[in-house]
Amino acid sequence: MNRVAKRANKIPPFIVMDVLEKAHELESQGRSIIHLEIGEPDFPTPECICLGAKEAIEKGETHYTHSLGIIQLREAICEHYHAKYGVRIDPNQVIITSGTSPALFMIFSALLEAGDEIIMSDPHYPCYPNLADFLGAGPVRVRVEEEDGFQLRPDEIKRKIGLKTKAILINSPSNPTGNLLSTERMQEIANLGPLVISDEIYHGLVYGKKEHSILEFTDNAFVLNGFSKFYAMTGWRLGYLIAPPDFIRPMQKIQQNFFISAGSVSQWAGITALTEAHKDVERMKGVYDERRKYMIRRIRELGFGLSVEPEGAFYMFVNAKHLSDSSYDLAFEILENAGVGVSPGIDFGKNGEGYLRFSYANSLENIKEGLDRIDRYLNRRQDEHLVLDKRI
Ligand SMILES: Cc1ncc(COP(=O)(O)O)c(C=O)c1O
Repeated sequence: MNRVAKRANKIPPFIVMDVLEKAHELESQGRSIIHLEIGEPDFPTPECICLGAKEAIEKGETHYTHSLGIIQLREAICEHYHAKYGVRIDPNQVIITSGTSPALFMIFSALLEAGDEIIMSDPHYPCYPNLADFLGAGPVRVRVEEEDGFQLRPDEIKRKIGLKTKAILINSPSNPTGNLLSTERMQEIANLGPLVISDEIYHGLVYGKKEHSILEFTDNAFVLNGFSKFYAMTGWRLGYLIAPPDFIRPMQKIQQNFFISAGSVSQWAGITALTEAHKDVERMKGVYDERRKYMIRRIRELGFGLSVEPEGAFYMFVNAKHLSDSSYDLAFEILENAGVGVSPGIDFGKNGEGYLRFSYANSLENIKEGLDRIDRYLNRRQDEHLVLDKRI
């Protein structure tokens, strides 16, 4: 008899963690590594948010909260969605979670029966299909293409909708591509029929354009969101979901059984984030945008393909097919020879093969140094290949 359950043995790791672990190993040997593989803000959490948390601790807000989350935060989220997207949500449709990841788990487990299908893009955030598989449901992937800004095509989705389709999952701005879904396409996807799950965790980090919430187009939807990225609060583990009313009680029971409630101090900090951190987040966004522009220029100068300029999150998904067929090998080659961590595209789905994800959640100085190192390494690599070619 197996000691470890099959489902636990079967769930794939995040490959980027392999890169990160190798990077740490090299660092422990004294090598300097520039991290462009990371998916978390390099900024500290804004001071006003930390003060909000300190105040909560001083007031003794250190207990379990209501399983749906504290009402003041749920109301602040409704106000935020109203002010930003013009949509009216009832606080009773909001559940506060310990990060967006548990919110994803709660939605998938309340929605998907074994054998159900959920449609998503390829490439995608790695844990989407892993979680669906874990629950015995089938992820159905729709290829998205570089030339099209890696945007989902409603007609392609339509062709994949069948009797088993439970939902369509969208993520805009997207991890790993950093691209936005156009308003028209979002509207069309909302009208296709199945429930839409919209992961809006990168909302706020949009440069020049305006992002839309799925709730502007349909009520037949779930929203996933959280404080990790826009508010630089990854370690606080704070997120939320907005759901159709009939799903709230079932998900509340999941929360009660699995998580009890989100962290109390983090929830109070979340209120400060929504109500007082406006200037701080705008400042961070300005810095990301500066890095984004710099990185786009350098990435193209280095010969990587980037057909459409990424307009959101802090990632770009660049075509490296001219260098290798294996993004996994290439990521390790760049790490070991150039001392720069990047994420292999294959981590994000089969259609991500041949691409690398670069993150600009690092200082401009480090980004410059990282790209200079890659530049020098690629020149060296080309010279070596020329010598090899001549020998052959
Ligand atoms: C698309 C997407 N969704 C969800 C998450 C999970 O975020 P958290 O659990 O920190 O809120 C991430 C984290 O990288 C992400 O990129």
